[in-house]
Amino acid sequence: MKAHVDATRCQGMGVCAELAPAVFLLDDWGFASTADGGAIPAEHEPAVRDAAARCPEKAILLVE
Ligand code: F3S
Repeated sequence: MKAHVDATRCQGMGVCAELAPAVFLLDDWGFASTADGGAIPAEHEPAVRDAAARCPEKAILLVE
C-alpha cells in the first residue's frame, strides 16, 4: 500500500502525524507529507488507514 497527501487539501490538522508518526511528517507549518515516497510498511497500514479515515480534510489518498 502507498499513501499520498494531497497538498491542495491538507490544512495542517496533524491528526495523521499523531496516529502514524513514522509515516507522516509535518513541515514547519504543520503540513504533512509521507516518508519513503509513501510506501507503507505492513505494520503501519492499520494506523495509516485510520489516519486517512480521520483526516478532517480527507487529504490522505491510499493506493493498494
Ligand atoms: Fe493534513 Fe489531514 Fe494530516 S489535514 S496534517 S493530512 S490530518
